[in-house]
Amino acid sequence: MADTGKVDQPYTPPPLWYKDAIVYQIHVRTFYDSNGDGVGDFQGLIQKLDYIQNLGVTAIWLLPFYPSPLKDDGYDISDYNSIHPSYGTLDDFRAFLQEAHRRGLHVITEAVVNHTSDQHPWFQESRSSKDNPRRNWYVWSDTDDRYRGVRIIFVDTELSNWSWDPVSKAYYWHRFFSHQPDLNFDNPEVCEAVWNILKFWMEMGVDGMRLDAVPYLVEREGTSCENLPETHEILKFLRKRVDEYFPNRMLLAEANQWPSDVRPYFGEGDECHMAFHFPLMPRMFMGIQLEDRKPIVDILQQTPAIPDMCQWAIFLRNHDELTLEMVTDEERDYMYDSYAKDSSMRINVGIRRRLAPLLDNDRRKIELMNGLLMSLSGTPIVYYGDEIGMGDNIYLGDRKGVRTPMQWSGGWTGGFSLADPERLYSPVVSNIMYCPQAVNVISEQRSAHSLLSWMKLLIRTRRKVKAFGSGTTEFLHPENHRVLAYVRKLGSETILVVNNLSASAQAVEIDLRKFRGAIPVEMSGGSIFPRIGELPYLLTLGPYQFFWFRLRRI
Ligand code: BGC
Ligand code: MG
Repeated sequence: MADTGKVDQPYTPPPLWYKDAIVYQIHVRTFYDSNGDGVGDFQGLIQKLDYIQNLGVTAIWLLPFYPSPLKDDGYDISDYNSIHPSYGTLDDFRAFLQEAHRRGLHVITEAVVNHTSDQHPWFQESRSSKDNPRRNWYVWSDTDDRYRGVRIIFVDTELSNWSWDPVSKAYYWHRFFSHQPDLNFDNPEVCEAVWNILKFWMEMGVDGMRLDAVPYLVEREGTSCENLPETHEILKFLRKRVDEYFPNRMLLAEANQWPSDVRPYFGEGDECHMAFHFPLMPRMFMGIQLEDRKPIVDILQQTPAIPDMCQWAIFLRNHDELTLEMVTDEERDYMYDSYAKDSSMRINVGIRRRLAPLLDNDRRKIELMNGLLMSLSGTPIVYYGDEIGMGDNIYLGDRKGVRTPMQWSGGWTGGFSLADPERLYSPVVSNIMYCPQAVNVISEQRSAHSLLSWMKLLIRTRRKVKAFGSGTTEFLHPENHRVLAYVRKLGSETILVVNNLSASAQAVEIDLRKFRGAIPVEMSGGSIFPRIGELPYLLTLGPYQFFWFRLRRI
């Protein structure tokens, strides 16, 4: 089907910008409140763009900011072409986009299209009667026994993927909360409507869109209703349109699946440009807990190759729980036991905690995990606040505890807002270890040794290395399995990364014969290490220490 709508396209990002990007994930609501109403907004975000630029990241991913009843923090959208009034106006968004671009920051927004809010006019029409022209925009049934056996994702709140609609006296299908009815992608009108959403935001100038919950677009009897060929057809259709109208824009698949099931979301370079690597994330936490490289190496070795123009998105934490869907039952028990002893830390199939508390606020572990994030294959994503070591509040319900106000300074509201603390959309973290008096941007800016200063250095170092974004990865196999070592290579650039995953000092002998004659230069300080020869290369590492070496040929 050809699209005849005119497209106004003033802007084209550079090709493959996403491959070398470092992404900072932000919720506009949580970042900075400019008008003192207790809710973060676009004008506030604009004021903080210098901070983001200074951090060294190259792209911003924004959580949904559209009109919404906010029963799923904005992932329940009631109008795709507008801005939630408490965050500002479309003009504010345009100003933000312009200011971000002016600073060389790309912007990724959310396309939550598997489902809408039940308050969306489409659903209101669809439910209004069985012969409404929009009836077929959602998935309706007279019984609740179709698609039996399909897993429930929000197991803590939902009992079924069907809910009864008392208005039109039928059941509707939903993979998430019951207030989020799934759109019916078998209807070509829905596909066109979804394209129009992408077009609206890309025309405005967003560089990329995250396709939320993408495995669940299409349902078929007798299947898991996940990753179906028909779903891939729809993605190919959307990608074709994007390429036609908006060259170099990026689509990022949120498919929380095993690597072999995620691989098809890249297609032959004709579906999504990027996809999250979900299974890697818990295995990084397992690796440092077990003090063994095996979980990390195993999952990356099981990860199929992807087309050259594609890229994995990797992360340590995000706005959701640390999901444990893509691990075995045994691994899940181990993760709960290690990282979520208190049941308030658990939600659905995962752990609702931020990075610093997960790692017991151990600066060495936090550095090591960020070092892995910045040196493994993929585009790294840093979740707002994790760069200063923010804490969480596991008692706030749902995933709210990892979405508390950004802590800019030491006041009652953490410098997030001029409103009274009681008025904030969420309480600020107030425990003695992580309250704004203990953890905030201003104080970390004062010290060259703070986590924030260290993160800036790490990010700057990463940006000097093309191989981290686009190079190959070769794992080395030293006998000491507490050490994870790999070589990242692109053209003549060769980087050796050596990580001690354990709490004790380690010595390791690495076979580097194929680099004989090269001189390792440690990248954070520029020190020269002994030339590589025939013998196994001996390194010693302190607890959780890691090295990045540039291998110099002369
Ligand atoms: C988002 C969640 C959201 C869900 C339903 C996702 O996968 O990351 O935050 O609750 O989609 O929209
Ligand atoms: Mg505000």
